[in-house]
Amino acid sequence: MRWEGLIKTYRDFLPINENTPMVTLNEGNTPLIRLDKLSRDWGIDLYVKTEGANPTGSFKDRGMVMAVAKAKEEGSDAIICASTGNTSAAAAAYAARAGLRCVVVIPEGKIAMGKLAQAVMYGAEVVSIEGNFDQALAMVRKISETELITLVNSVNPYRLEGQKTAAFEVCDQLGGAPDILALPVGNAGNISAYWKGFKEYHEAKGTGLPKMHGFEAEGAAAIVHNRVFENPETVATAIRIGNPASWDLAVNAVNESKGKIDEVSDEEILCMYRKLASTEGIFAEPASCASLAGVYKQLRNGEIKHKTRVVAVLTGNGLKDPNTAIDCSPIKPVQLPNDEKAVARHIKGVVHA
Ligand code: F0G
Repeated sequence: MRWEGLIKTYRDFLPINENTPMVTLNEGNTPLIRLDKLSRDWGIDLYVKTEGANPTGSFKDRGMVMAVAKAKEEGSDAIICASTGNTSAAAAAYAARAGLRCVVVIPEGKIAMGKLAQAVMYGAEVVSIEGNFDQALAMVRKISETELITLVNSVNPYRLEGQKTAAFEVCDQLGGAPDILALPVGNAGNISAYWKGFKEYHEAKGTGLPKMHGFEAEGAAAIVHNRVFENPETVATAIRIGNPASWDLAVNAVNESKGKIDEVSDEEILCMYRKLASTEGIFAEPASCASLAGVYKQLRNGEIKHKTRVVAVLTGNGLKDPNTAIDCSPIKPVQLPNDEKAVARHIKGVVHA
């Protein structure tokens, strides 16, 4: 059967009515891939939900399709968001699809190249400020109160409604909830959305509940340290956030599920970023790899037990951020003359090494 996107597929679980336009880019239905090598090496049953397979390359499409459909239903003709990159790409794409204007406000110099390219190509008005994400979000929240423009950051409740559908898919793909759901935490909307989704699906279908394990970057670990980070810093620019908007919801999700919010260093993130790509063939952006880096950390310190079934969410596609890949890779292209013999000699050395 042809997959027709989230709103149609999950309409019984979503706040829609006969006036809601069926906006879609056929988002959702992303693969749940078992990591065979890492499962064996780590002694757990490990899967990744590859959200980078969504239309704009991140999980944000799930929330954005709902936010844009509802904005259109309510008669709005423009949307606005602050973003570390992925939200702006999704907002711009769905706005184009639905025929709305889109304004995105981004922190200058701190968004990955692919994400900026997307916002520009989808035709958004891109405003870059000399400030960080938290400041951009405060700004667009204010502006949306006085101007006729709909705010589509995750403080818009329809965003979390759309994003909760990822939890439904995990349960359907695995035959029930995993023991642990691990994911990166930035503005803390996604962890809150997953928890809502797991609870609703469990209530409807008895699919069980996971423990929610969220991971912030060490330089932006507001929830872990229970204080705002005025100047958040991390290589994982997607989660470079010092004052998460859904802070309370996230704390509630980990408390109710008996999970934990923990932190991982940039070094741990980048190490897992390379390992995932080179051992399993899956290229996820740095922030996404905070989830797996966190699982590895908690395996070593005993917080995750052997044989546990873990799903780690890979929130965005590695292609979003080519610069980090090239900068942190020890492997550079070997330069050789345009000469078959020289190339053949080099390749022999590689395959027989
Ligand atoms: N992973 C990626 C790839 C992200 O882009 C984000 C958030 C997160 C994880 C964290 O999710 O905020 O719900 O806790 N990106 C936002 C943006 C902030 O503007 O694209 P969260």
